[in-house]
Amino acid sequence: MAMENKLGITDSIELAHEEERLSKLRAIELFESGKLNDLVAGTVSSLITIHKHLFGDIYDFAGKIRELNIAKGNFRFAPVMYLKEALKNIEKMPQSTFDEIIEKYVEMNIAHPFREGNGRSTRIWLDLILKQELGRVIDWSKVDKDDYLLAMERSPIKDIEIKHLLKNALTDDINNRELYMKGIDTSYYYEGYTIYQANKLK
Ligand SMILES: Nc1ncnc2c1ncn2[C@@H]1O[C@H](COP(=O)(O)OP(=O)(O)OP(=O)(O)O)[C@@H](O)[C@H]1O
Ligand SMILES: [Mg+2]
Repeated sequence: MAMENKLGITDSIELAHEEERLSKLRAIELFESGKLNDLVAGTVSSLITIHKHLFGDIYDFAGKIRELNIAKGNFRFAPVMYLKEALKNIEKMPQSTFDEIIEKYVEMNIAHPFREGNGRSTRIWLDLILKQELGRVIDWSKVDKDDYLLAMERSPIKDIEIKHLLKNALTDDINNRELYMKGIDTSYYYEGYTIYQANKLK
């Protein structure tokens, strides 16, 4: 069964296709309109704006902080109970060097503020920080998808691999729309979340 959506689609494959098509159109619009460059890099509100813009046609939860606890593989993302506080702290993290920016990105991935679409919106958010702070972006075509996923899975424990991978893909070609769009190629992996209940304290 497909995730509840505004399009009334019940087939998950069909939803994945429509989600990809519509979110890509919106991503182009975000880039071409100059709206993206007007955002303040590294803020929670910039990530919310990106997510809302990309997924607003498809999901009611676009741009909304999730109210469910979610996990992927063995990893549980930030429990809803602590999520808003975590986001405030992440926003305050420094972002003046490459290492600081990746550390902030890793924390934002651990927070995983949305019900779906965290990967794509947070990669755009990351590129915006790199662009505003360092005048560089990631050339996502140089980042092998399997390596990326493995590095992201390990990143909550050790961020050296993701730093290495992304550092080698930096480019100063910052206004290239094709490079930007490579970061949201959905084919990454269509895999849903497991919902978990927080352990209740009595
Ligand atoms: N086990 C894991 N531990 C930590 N982070 C993970 C894990 N699995 C996936 N991720 C991160 O979560 C992202 C996927 O999140 P989500 O499915 O919400 O976003 P998406 O935009 O739909 O997907 P994608 O990033 O595949 O395009 C991955 O890109 C990766 O950065
Ligand atoms: Mg997904």
